[in-house]
Amino acid sequence: MNTDATPQQQSAGPTTAWWTEAVIYQIYPRSFADANGDGIGDLPGITARLDHFVELGVDAVWLSPFYPSPQADAGYDVADYHDVDPLFGRLGDADRLIAEAHARGLRVIVDLVPNHTSSAHRWFTAALAAAPGSPERARYVFRDGLGPDGGQPPNDWTSVFGGPAWTRVTEPDGRPGQWYLHLFDPGQPDLNWDNPEVRAEFLDVLRFWLDRGVDGFRVDVAHGLIKQADLANWQEPQEILSGSEVDKPRPPMWDQDGVHEVYRDWRRLLDSYDGQRILVAEAWVEPAERLARYVRPDEMHQAFNFEYLTASWTAPAQYAVITRSLEATDAVGAPTTWVLSNHDVVRHASRLGLPVGTPRPNGIGVGDPQPDAALGLRRARAATLLMLALPGSAYLYQGEELGLPEHMTLPDEVRQDPTWERSGHTERGRDGCRVPIPWEADAPSYGFGPTDASWLPQPPSWAEYALDRQRDVPGSTYELYRTALRLRREHGLGRGSLYWLASGDEVVSFRNGDVTVLTNFGATPVPVPAEAELLHASAPLPDDGTVGQDVTVWYRAA
Ligand code: NOJ
Ligand code: CA
Repeated sequence: MNTDATPQQQSAGPTTAWWTEAVIYQIYPRSFADANGDGIGDLPGITARLDHFVELGVDAVWLSPFYPSPQADAGYDVADYHDVDPLFGRLGDADRLIAEAHARGLRVIVDLVPNHTSSAHRWFTAALAAAPGSPERARYVFRDGLGPDGGQPPNDWTSVFGGPAWTRVTEPDGRPGQWYLHLFDPGQPDLNWDNPEVRAEFLDVLRFWLDRGVDGFRVDVAHGLIKQADLANWQEPQEILSGSEVDKPRPPMWDQDGVHEVYRDWRRLLDSYDGQRILVAEAWVEPAERLARYVRPDEMHQAFNFEYLTASWTAPAQYAVITRSLEATDAVGAPTTWVLSNHDVVRHASRLGLPVGTPRPNGIGVGDPQPDAALGLRRARAATLLMLALPGSAYLYQGEELGLPEHMTLPDEVRQDPTWERSGHTERGRDGCRVPIPWEADAPSYGFGPTDASWLPQPPSWAEYALDRQRDVPGSTYELYRTALRLRREHGLGRGSLYWLASGDEVVSFRNGDVTVLTNFGATPVPVPAEAELLHASAPLPDDGTVGQDVTVWYRAA
C-alpha cells in the first residue's frame, strides 16, 4: 500500500445545516409503491411506505415529478406545475405525504422542471394558436426555418434523446410554419428564460410548493435554461445528458453564464421562508469548478456530482474524483454531494459489473454485453460503503438498498423511454433502472401493489431481492445499508473531514473522524491493523482479517 501521500484535510464546509450532511433517497413515484393496483406507483403508495425510510435511516426523500403530464418523458413533461396527475393521486395526497413525512422527521424535496414544459401545457397550446412573433410564442423558442420555404430547422442542434432538436408546427391557417426548440422530446418544448413572464411564473410555482411545506427542489436540467443568444450551430451530436466537458468549447445550449441570475432570484425567495429549504442542481457540467458555480453562497445549496457517478472503478480514478470534488466545492464553501445511481443511468450494481473502463451505457438489453452480476454487486456494495463514509451529502436511488440490478432482459416492445425510438433503436435508454421495486417475495408484483399489474414487467429473478427476504438477514445488502447509515450518523461522517492515508494503484484509504475507510481494488489482500476495531465491511472478511479485492472496510484504529 502506498502511504506516502501527505495527509490532506478536506472539509465538507463549516456549517451543519441539515442538507450539508443529509442522505437523500430518490423516489421514482411510478415504480415505488402502487396503492390502487393499476400497476403504476402513486402518492398514497409512498405515504403508506414512509416507515421504510425511517427504518433505513435516511434524512430526506426526493420525488421525481408527479404533476399532470402526458407522460411523454415519464412526467418530466409537465402540463401543470400546480397540481398532481390523477395517475399519482390528487393534490391532497401530496399534502398528506408531506405532513406524514414531516411527522416522521423526514424532509421532502420535489422535482422542478423549468427548462421545458409539456406540449400539453396551456402556454404551449396558446403559442400554437397564436401568430409568429406573438407574446404567446415568445414564452418558448420559436424561429423561422432556413431555406427558401423555411423547411430546414433553424440550426443543427440535436435532441438529447436523438433526432433533431426542432419540430415544425402547422400554423393556425393550416400552412407549415415556424419551428420550436426541444432539447429533449418534441413533447417538451424549451421555455425562453429571457422572457420575464417565464421567470415570474416559476417564482410562483416555487411559492406554491413552498407554501405546501416542501423542503426543497431538485432542479431538472439546471444547466440548460439559457441558450447562447445567437443559437449558433454546434455540429457535435448531443451526448445523452452530457454537459460541457473539460478541454472542449462550451456547447451553446449548456451551462451559459446567464443561468446563475435565475438561481440567485430563487435563492432569495427560498431564504425568505422559514426552515432550511434547498435547491439541488441537476447539471451535467464538467469540470468540477464549473459545477461549483451553481453552489456559490447565493445560489443553489447542492449539485449532483455526476463526475463521481461516472468515475471508473479504479483506485487512482476514485482518489482523483473525490479529491477534485472536495476541492471544487470547498472553494465556494459548499458541501460536496455523492451519487451512484438514479433513474437516468444503469443501476450501479450492474454498471460496475462491466469491464472497468467501459463507457457508461445508456441502458442494457438482450444482445448487449452483459455485466458480471456477482462482481457488479460486490463492487456496488464496496462503492456504497466508500461513498457513505465521505463528508458531504449522499443520494440513494430506490432499490439500491436491495442491491437491485438493472432489468437487462426487458422486451424492447415494452420500452417507454423516448430514447429507444428517437435514437433509431441504437440506445436502449433508461427503462431498465425504472422497473417497480420488490417488497415481498411471495406477493403479487412482489408487493409493489395489491395486484399483478406493473407498468414495466419485473424479472422473475427479483424475488431474492425483495425487502422481506433481506430484512434482519445478516450480510444482506439491505442490512449493509442500514448499518452503514446508522454508523454514518453515529460517527458524524457527513459533517466530518477527510484525511488521505493511502492513494496507490490498488488501494484508497482515508480517515474521517475516528473512522478509517479502506477500499481494495487490487488482487492482493490488504491487512487491517491488528488492534483495529472493525466497524463495517462490504463483504465478509476471511479468517486472517485481510481485505480482499473490491471490498471496503470501516474500522477504528486502536
Ligand atoms: C433529467 C431527468 O432526470 C430526465 O429523466 C429527463 O428525461 C430530462 N432531465 C429531461 O427533463
Ligand atoms: Ca397506482
